[in-house]
Amino acid sequence: MIKTIEWTDDGVVMIDQRLLPTEEVYPVFRTYQDVAEAIKVMVIRGAPAIGVAAAMGVAVGAKAIDPALDPAGFDAALEPVYETLAATRPTAVNLFWAIERMRRVAADARAAGAGNAALVARLVDEAKGMHDEDIEANRAMGRFGAELMPDSGVILTHCNAGALATAGYGTALGVIRAAVEAGKRVAVFADETRPFLQGARLTAWELHKDDIPVTLITDNMAGHFMKAGKIDCVVVGSDRIAANGDVANKIGTYSVAVLARENNIPFYVAAPTSTVDLNCPTGEEIPIEDRPIDEVTTVGQRVLAPEGITVANPAFDVTPNRYVAAIITEKGVARAPYEVSLHALVCGKADKEQAQGV
Ligand code: MRU
Repeated sequence: MIKTIEWTDDGVVMIDQRLLPTEEVYPVFRTYQDVAEAIKVMVIRGAPAIGVAAAMGVAVGAKAIDPALDPAGFDAALEPVYETLAATRPTAVNLFWAIERMRRVAADARAAGAGNAALVARLVDEAKGMHDEDIEANRAMGRFGAELMPDSGVILTHCNAGALATAGYGTALGVIRAAVEAGKRVAVFADETRPFLQGARLTAWELHKDDIPVTLITDNMAGHFMKAGKIDCVVVGSDRIAANGDVANKIGTYSVAVLARENNIPFYVAAPTSTVDLNCPTGEEIPIEDRPIDEVTTVGQRVLAPEGITVANPAFDVTPNRYVAAIITEKGVARAPYEVSLHALVCGKADKEQAQGV
């Protein structure tokens, strides 16, 4: 299995995704500042993966605080750790969800009388647990989602929502992997996903490694293949899902969803419930990250555009809920009206059938 991120006593080991597919390098990130920088520059990316990285970053930060401090001083020293990690990328809610969870663990441990060493041990355990939990969630999502995939056919995906975007197995690619494991004869069309090329560099690499048939296309080819009847369904991941089912995902996802509707192709979203933000009523409130312009104007050392040109580079867009056929989570499959079904899934008040039925 591809190892995206791993806890070690020396620090957090992450595959440097900027170097894929040509180099497979696993640096160690030994301080919380280094982990934060790795998230910011996209050594690691993908909503669930950056959640796990942030949790491990908190644990690394806690380990480095002087254990001789009194509890209040120690807790105060944790604040810049949380804040630095939270200031890395704004759209994927999993980052904030993970940091909040680590904060709560620290507060609960203190309330139960933990000293500094016990608190650090608790934070390390929690971060490691979140890593394993994420893989479990992806496998569960895969089982639910595989049922929605055709017995044979072609699935289009956008960006990378695979093992590399999570602790392992993947969300959208987890659904595809589970469909293959269930004996379905599916192939994948991967959008290259300009400008960061997660589809070409990461999705194509992962699927190729797993011997899942994959055809790489440029983003502007998706409509052509849909109209030609070559695509049976679309599955993508998400960085944040609003309470009403509007879905933020990699820039270009909205265009894919509209094309899918035009061509009567189901458009599915696979994401853990930690990606659902019930505090965001609609997609309008989801913050969209702007990335550096050189991601658009250059590829490697090659300059693609005139110097000084005005460039826009929003990293995500929002797909309105009306285009979404279903949202596949680790707790079941939500369908419209999403205000009801997502709330039920996130708050744990529904099993799979109830969520599907509402
Ligand atoms: O900018 P990125 O590469 O972090 O964006 C990633 C995506 O948009 C993914 O599709 C999303 O995080 C889902 S990953 C399981």
